[in-house]
Amino acid sequence: MRKIKNVILLGTLACSSIFAQQKPVYLDESKPIEQRVEDALSRMTLEEKVAMCHAQSKFSSAGVPRLGIPENWATDGPHGIRPEVLWDEWDQAGWTNDSCIAFPALTCLAATWNKDMALLYGKSIGEEARYRNKNILLGPGVNIYRTPLNGRNFEYMGEDPYLASRMVVPYIQGVQSNGVAACVKHFALNNQEIDRHTVNVNVDDRALYEIYLPAFKAAVQEGKAWAIMGAYNKYKGQWACHNQYLLNDILRGEWGFDGVVVSDWGGVNSTKQAIYNGLDMEFGSWTDGLSEGASNAYDNYYLAKPFLKLLQSGEVKVEEVDKKVRNILRLAFRTTMDSKRPWGSFGTVEHAAAGRKIAEEGIVLLQNKNNVLPIDLNKAKKIVVVGENAIKSMTVGGGSSSLKARYEISPLDGIKGRVGTQTQVVYARGYVGDASGNYNGVTSGQDLTENRSESELISEAVNMAKDADVVIFIGGLNKSDFQDSEGNDRKHLELPYNQDKVITELSKANKNLVVVNISGNAVAMPWANTVPAIVQSWYNGSESGASLASILVGDANPSGKLPFTFPVKLDDNGAHKLGEYPGNGEVTYNESIFVGYRWIDKEKIKPLFPFGHGLSYTTFAYGKVSADKKEMDADGKMTFSVSVKNTGNREGAEIVQLYISDLKSSLPRPVKELKDFQKIVLKPGEEKVVTFTIDKSALSFFDAAKHDWVAESGDFEALIGASSTDVKTKVGFKLR
Ligand code: BGC
Repeated sequence: MRKIKNVILLGTLACSSIFAQQKPVYLDESKPIEQRVEDALSRMTLEEKVAMCHAQSKFSSAGVPRLGIPENWATDGPHGIRPEVLWDEWDQAGWTNDSCIAFPALTCLAATWNKDMALLYGKSIGEEARYRNKNILLGPGVNIYRTPLNGRNFEYMGEDPYLASRMVVPYIQGVQSNGVAACVKHFALNNQEIDRHTVNVNVDDRALYEIYLPAFKAAVQEGKAWAIMGAYNKYKGQWACHNQYLLNDILRGEWGFDGVVVSDWGGVNSTKQAIYNGLDMEFGSWTDGLSEGASNAYDNYYLAKPFLKLLQSGEVKVEEVDKKVRNILRLAFRTTMDSKRPWGSFGTVEHAAAGRKIAEEGIVLLQNKNNVLPIDLNKAKKIVVVGENAIKSMTVGGGSSSLKARYEISPLDGIKGRVGTQTQVVYARGYVGDASGNYNGVTSGQDLTENRSESELISEAVNMAKDADVVIFIGGLNKSDFQDSEGNDRKHLELPYNQDKVITELSKANKNLVVVNISGNAVAMPWANTVPAIVQSWYNGSESGASLASILVGDANPSGKLPFTFPVKLDDNGAHKLGEYPGNGEVTYNESIFVGYRWIDKEKIKPLFPFGHGLSYTTFAYGKVSADKKEMDADGKMTFSVSVKNTGNREGAEIVQLYISDLKSSLPRPVKELKDFQKIVLKPGEEKVVTFTIDKSALSFFDAAKHDWVAESGDFEALIGASSTDVKTKVGFKLR
């Protein structure tokens, strides 16, 4: 018996040691990732390598089946997991189990100014992606808000590079904790939709490094993003998806990016440039399905057969494909081949609750005269809701970020659901915007057709409004073409569909008017002086209406602040004032670093609502800021402290902002720049001391001649503000 046992034991040991010996290095998760990459690479044929560098369907690319390396599956992004499309078409696949939780748009996330919300967002959407078996999430987007007309601003994080940088990092970390790569987009300078496939962006190095690149740099170096997406536009005459300067010099050279560069869909235009200028994976190229692509369109991709031929002929060295495949293999080991990655979850109540929390923290109370808000439900017996955006589905539309949501609570339903039966809620359409409800093959299922005339709609709303306790107008933009939507920009700053007139008439009919603007962009508000309460809401996804209702009745105390400036008119924006938008094939960013509040400050313009602005139902008092020393040495740090007290009678959160001002410099600098912020929660009467510690980087500018960051010695000021124009206290200091 003992003999038999020994034989079995020996046999087992022998087998496991043979197995251990035979286990290839690339499958051995105890080995360093680079060793595994080299091992896998050494086993691959040229054909297998090339197959990895381009799409095999609308959203997937090949793995190496022979070696057990899975395919890559990408998904939009960035506000929820896109419904499945057909293998070879943009049309919906018609699945019945791909309805996601729609999260608030990234503008809303930025408006929370809360890094914990960004982490929660990333973790939640990453779980949804993982459950759907995607290993690349096409988001977040961090293109800077240069003009309020950009149709895709709603997918980005506002006008300030510091705010966008701080918010993008936790989003990425959250997504990637699921073994799903965040694919940060669109790198770089994709700041308008007009001519996005052709426009060549001319920008000086200072603006490039100080304004347009920092959020991408933070995403790469701090967020450790595993993927990045090239933009459609050109820079220095080369398309951004294969761009020597952006991809080879900056992204990989200066920042040390070791992830995958993915093209935007159809963003590749040349095989040679795609080979040499930093691209790894090509997606979405167009083939006509006749002469090209009659059998397999994907063979005709720039990085498919044409690439293979060049490699086979020796015209292109194998090292070029190896460079790309290394990055793609690294992605596989970080995602699909990580045996410890979690399983994810989809459409859960936890995700819905996360979306709601983010929305409640991101909605911004812009104005609240006479304390019209929050609505006192003990007093308000009749509420009139007016406007198309109170009922229109907003998760559908807008381009590639369009979603098929598991559900979406409209503002009207959110309000009705919250106020209960004690208060009557009646609705009037007020205006007709876009009644279609059909975008990108996803239909909202709504038929908003309305045959009454403009004046009939207005008189109905006005008549209802006359004897209401509160009137809530819910309008703004929507996700239709030429509004907040991909592929085109807005045509003007004004609200569309004659909404200004409806609002003006309502303000005459009832003094308790609340205007809720739902948009991803600033809009003109010529009626701002006659409307007591204005709320900036966003495309807030599944829980949109519920979160808005919470704010309106005061269940949640507003604590969002604007991530971009609301100018009075377009000319109050540098890009428009200086005339280079949208350009004509070429667009030159003449305003340079003076984007958003930097332009407003420089030109001493009074904005409609400034960057960083947002009110609360409570009030805060700021103490005097102090610095821990008078001088900072070049390698040192400096700490500023300020006390903030809740002087109202309910709990609330305040976003305390630190701006730095360089009083004298050899180059023109913005009057001030955001360099830190903190969101603090205070009970009534509670006081907290907020501290900010900065180092030299907060004082530096990008010196184009030196191609480096420079902090000049001299006098600076630290300004503590409740917004970019509401500076509460300041203190001077020197850099030695
Ligand atoms: C958009 C990307 C998107 C891709 C895939 C492109 O048109 O610019 O942001 O991820 O399509 O849908």
